[in-house]
Amino acid sequence: MNGRIVVVGSLNADLTIYCERLPLPGETVHGNGFSVNPGGKSANQAVAASKLGGDVSLIGAVGKDPNGDMLIASTEGAGVDVSRVRRSGEVATGVAVIAVDEHGENNIIISAGANGTLAPADVTTEAFDGASVLCLCLEVALETVEAAAKTAHDAGATVLLNLSPYAEIPESLAALSDVLLVNAHEASLFLGEAEMPLPTAPASEWEGVRSQFADRGLERVLVTLGSQGSVVLDSQAATGEQVVRIAPTEVQAVDTTGAGDAFTGAVAARLAAGESLAEAAAFASVAAALATTRKGTQAAYPGVEDVVRHRS
Ligand code: RIB
Ligand code: NA
Repeated sequence: MNGRIVVVGSLNADLTIYCERLPLPGETVHGNGFSVNPGGKSANQAVAASKLGGDVSLIGAVGKDPNGDMLIASTEGAGVDVSRVRRSGEVATGVAVIAVDEHGENNIIISAGANGTLAPADVTTEAFDGASVLCLCLEVALETVEAAAKTAHDAGATVLLNLSPYAEIPESLAALSDVLLVNAHEASLFLGEAEMPLPTAPASEWEGVRSQFADRGLERVLVTLGSQGSVVLDSQAATGEQVVRIAPTEVQAVDTTGAGDAFTGAVAARLAAGESLAEAAAFASVAAALATTRKGTQAAYPGVEDVVRHRS
């Protein structure tokens, strides 16, 4: 029986323009297509986990506006329990303005809107009844993130923290995080601008990074490496293999937006199903790669069959 997954955080309407190349500061470029899609790192994580068979509830806030309706429809349509997504009459739904270039690379600006109203009081103890995993990102207030981590920890759930968008976090939050999910840039910043191995480096070159995280009290860390796969730094690995390199999945990327959220949601789904961290990361690497082969985030996320087919 799978444990329940709780996701606490953001929901955004993604206003995306596709273009040949991203504009430089002060420059205007022509786009070639505009769309408004459901997004937000937490909503994305929730949908990714649910599409992969997870039993998921989302705690967040949207406005009483059409973007809020769109986000509720998308998350609920993917099977996520949205009964704890609060609707604010005062503040608009959060938005993300996104540019995606012809290689699928993006840049994103977010405006918190209703996400900025998500407070520790929204994170109730009963929301964690029977929960086995909590997913967090840094698109809502740090005090809310920390309250959720504390409540989940007390309920015996595994706390996954995606350190994105990057911010310094208090020691107390780091101590509550069972698994940290970062890209190489975030990993470097977290370790005080430490030098990272090349994305193509073998497992042995990551040993130093593992020990630096462990010194900071983070014994289980997943580092995503874009098109180069990912690496598992698990100082507690039952197999004794503390560094595991997950090979890249070859795909033709058209839009990498939300690939990290797909990875986080997939890890949550597989941990909740009882897999080890390395098993979950191997599965999630494939799910995240497949997510980049289609435009947008939530609608682009794969189901279990898609991932299994791709692995065989
Ligand atoms: O990680 C991708 C997400 O970041 C987008 O959906 C956007 O809403 C921003 O939150
Ligand atoms: Na995509």
